[in-house]
Amino acid sequence: MITVFGSINMDLIATTARLPKPGETVAGNGFSTAAGGKGANQALAARRAGRIVHMAGAVGRDGFAEPALALLKDAGTELGTVKQVDEPTGTALILVGGDGENMIAVVPGANGTVTSADADAAIDAMSKGDILMLQLEVPTSAVERALARARAKGVTTVLNLAPLIDDAPRLGRLADIVIANETEFERLAGQEDMGGDDREAALKQLNAETGQTLIVTLGADGVIAIRDGVISRAKGLKIEPVDTVGAGDTFCGYFAASLDEGLDFDVSLRRAAVAGSLACLKQGAQPSIPSSAEVAKAL
Ligand code: RIB
Repeated sequence: MITVFGSINMDLIATTARLPKPGETVAGNGFSTAAGGKGANQALAARRAGRIVHMAGAVGRDGFAEPALALLKDAGTELGTVKQVDEPTGTALILVGGDGENMIAVVPGANGTVTSADADAAIDAMSKGDILMLQLEVPTSAVERALARARAKGVTTVLNLAPLIDDAPRLGRLADIVIANETEFERLAGQEDMGGDDREAALKQLNAETGQTLIVTLGADGVIAIRDGVISRAKGLKIEPVDTVGAGDTFCGYFAASLDEGLDFDVSLRRAAVAGSLACLKQGAQPSIPSSAEVAKAL
C-alpha cells in the first residue's frame, strides 16, 4: 500500500509560442484547466500503475475542490484522508511554451493548512512495509513529522525534493529514498554546476555517508541512481515533448508503485522513466499520466 502525503492543486494552463522573459507580455494561444499538484499527480501515477493508493492532503470548499480530485476519484484512489478547509484549493499558474518547457507559480492555499496532526493520522493508518511518498508543497513541519513517524513504524519513505526550498538539504537526509532533479540534487549535495563525473562522485559519497538510496532525474538523459553503493542508469523514450508538466511526478509515482509491487530496482527505474516520457506527450499534469498498459506497451 502507498500513501502520498502532499499537495493537491488546480492547474490553470496557458500555452504560448514561447515563454516570456521577466517583464515581457506574450500572446497566449490556448487555455485549459487540469487537476494537478505534485502530491496528487504522484498519487494518480501510482494508482494508474496499478497499486492501492491513499492520498492525504487538503482542498478548499470552493469550485476547484471537486475537479482537483476528480481523476484521483475516478481512478479509485482512497481519499478519506483529504480534508476540506476554509482556505481556497491550491492553484498553479502554468505557462507552457512551444518547445514543451514551462514556468509555474504555485499558490498553496489549502495545502498550507496541512499539519503534523494530519501527518500522524496518515501514518497511523499505515503498516510496516508500506510506502510513504512525499514532496515539498505542504508545510515542512508536517513533512518532517510524517518522515519521522513513518520511519519509526518501518514504513519506507520516498521523498521527492521538489519544489526546491531552503530546507531541502536537511529534509533530504530524513528519507530512505530521495528523488531529485539535477538542481535539487546539487542543493542536496551542496555543490553547484555538477558535470556527470561530479554527480556520480557526489552520489557515491552521499550514499556512503547516509545509506540512502538516491535517484537523480536528468530529463531527456534519463536517470542515474545509487543503492547500496551500486550505480544504476535508466533511459526513458526518445520523444518530442509537448508538455513536460507532471513528467517528474509520473516518474515518482511509477517508481513507488513498482517498488510496492516488488519489482527489481533497475526494472523500477526503467519503467518509471518510460512512464515519465509518455507523460510528456499530452497536455496537463494528470490527463497525461499513462496507464500501466500504455507503459507496458512502450517498454
Ligand atoms: O509537478 C507539476 C505540478 O507542480 C503541477 O501539477 C502544479 O500543480 C505544481 O504543483
